[in-house]
Amino acid sequence: MDNDIYEKYRCAGKIAAEARDYGADMIKLGVCFLDVANKVESQILERGAGIAFPVNISLNEIAAHYSPRHDDVSVFKKGDVVKLDVGTHIDGYIADTAVTVEVGTNKYDSMIKASSDALENAIALLKAGIDLSEVGKIVQETITSYGYKPIDNLTGHSLKQYELHSGLSIPNVANSSQRVKPKEGDVLAVEPFATNGAGHVTSGVGSNIYLCNKSFRSKIIRESRSKMMFNKMRGRFKTLPFAQRWCYNLLSDGVDPVLKKLSFLGLIKHYTQLIDAKGGIVTQKEHTVIIREDGCEVIT
Ligand code: CO
Repeated sequence: MDNDIYEKYRCAGKIAAEARDYGADMIKLGVCFLDVANKVESQILERGAGIAFPVNISLNEIAAHYSPRHDDVSVFKKGDVVKLDVGTHIDGYIADTAVTVEVGTNKYDSMIKASSDALENAIALLKAGIDLSEVGKIVQETITSYGYKPIDNLTGHSLKQYELHSGLSIPNVANSSQRVKPKEGDVLAVEPFATNGAGHVTSGVGSNIYLCNKSFRSKIIRESRSKMMFNKMRGRFKTLPFAQRWCYNLLSDGVDPVLKKLSFLGLIKHYTQLIDAKGGIVTQKEHTVIIREDGCEVIT
């Protein structure tokens, strides 16, 4: 990896880690989701990085993919198990990291430790040429040893410039059908999920997180307001996910009907919430690493 690129990843990683810890400290009884999301995102920008995706605040049975709307008034309640997932980038070089916080109780300490230990064990194994199914195996064994299930249809992912999910998947279960090996310089987001539920997720309702489709087809939009909005979104967010609430910087009102119309036309994708199929509680921990010949460097 080019030295300049390497420094950008390290810088993105440092800012992401600080933002994650800052956000995690804020998650307390009675605090608004929206406040946490806004403050974490502001801090990322103040430190000089870009936001790689909206701050995800996923509660309890929601494993991932929820970001508050512009008018969200929900607050953290006692016993909530909160996954805070944060992404930053410097010139498109992305760092992605997540942590689980339980609000006011300690009922899920061991499940939080299960995903955290699974991540540590995976990191200890990661190096150039390692079979990623071996990494999935250690994640599965670690989480199972605590009496929980890994989520088998969520995986870690490789990162490329301005690309949040770029090819490689890091499984959370032993998966011998897929013998993939990372190379030196590959950047991977590793994210084990543990649950006391089904161990796989299904799609729920909308996450308030969107992505512009790569294939440019704004000419199919007849209505000028939607067309203008789509062009602005592509210009501003490019290939990275964006939040419903960010669209108020592009359009002062009527954001929701435009988002709905653009989703319907297939010009933007609305991500769904990812929810454990049996409604079990889910914990997650995530770091971004750079693969080395003899190990890996955690940048978050
Ligand atoms: Co993440």
